[in-house]
Amino acid sequence: MNKAKHIAIIMDGNGRWAELQGKKRVKGHEAGAGVVRAITEYCAAQEEIERLTLYAFSTENWKRPRLEVEFLMKLLDKYLNQELETLMKNNIRFETVGDLGAFSKKLQKTIQTVKEKTSHCDGLVQSLALNYGAQDEMLRAINSLKKSQDDITLEMMSQELDCKHDVDLLIRTGGDHRLSNFLLWQSAYAELFFTDTLWPDFTDKELDKIIKKFTKVERRFGGLK
Ligand code: IPE
Ligand code: IPE
Ligand code: MG
Repeated sequence: MNKAKHIAIIMDGNGRWAELQGKKRVKGHEAGAGVVRAITEYCAAQEEIERLTLYAFSTENWKRPRLEVEFLMKLLDKYLNQELETLMKNNIRFETVGDLGAFSKKLQKTIQTVKEKTSHCDGLVQSLALNYGAQDEMLRAINSLKKSQDDITLEMMSQELDCKHDVDLLIRTGGDHRLSNFLLWQSAYAELFFTDTLWPDFTDKELDKIIKKFTKVERRFGGLK
């Protein structure tokens, strides 16, 4: 049986969820933040799950209307301040992937505080992908490695990336079948699951069903079984 040690989720469909109810898109982001908490708590309670990486803001999401971007930044700050207690209570360590330099000093400070206050936690790792793009992540890694005289190896590359952990199970909600620049290197042999459920409607029950299917897949990694 496969173990879903590292689950990565593209949390898509917030805007459509809100629009379907005649609400503003940002209401979908608010509802989505609540689902992050529920899914994180579920994962923290499963011993085999070590890491949950959640796509929260891509390097391409800056193209959105200024007001939506500003709302997302405020929501992130609020979410982190609110969640600190839950994270600590559940022994969850908070990490991020992505280039944080683009965020306001205030938001960077909040992120740093939550990282520091949960750094001793040794249960689940919740890693938020913030201003994250796999191409940007790989370029930053290559630019830093090119200073070395030696040829770049697989190990050197893996160690230089923001996310150093191969993905076992990658899920995208919201009905689209694409990766949108998420963890391209780390998902080389990930099992991909796509669901039409919009992120604010996603539940731990559905996640549980996906994990059950995942455990039965034959993963060959290019070899034979
Ligand atoms: C995902 O939901 C959240 C972010 C990208 C921040 P969307 O905002 O992309 O929602 P849809 O895909 O437009 O419905
Ligand atoms: C991917 O969703 C990014 C996040 C979930 C944060 P998008 O809504 O930005 O992706 P596209 O534009 O549909 O590919
Ligand atoms: Mg989307």
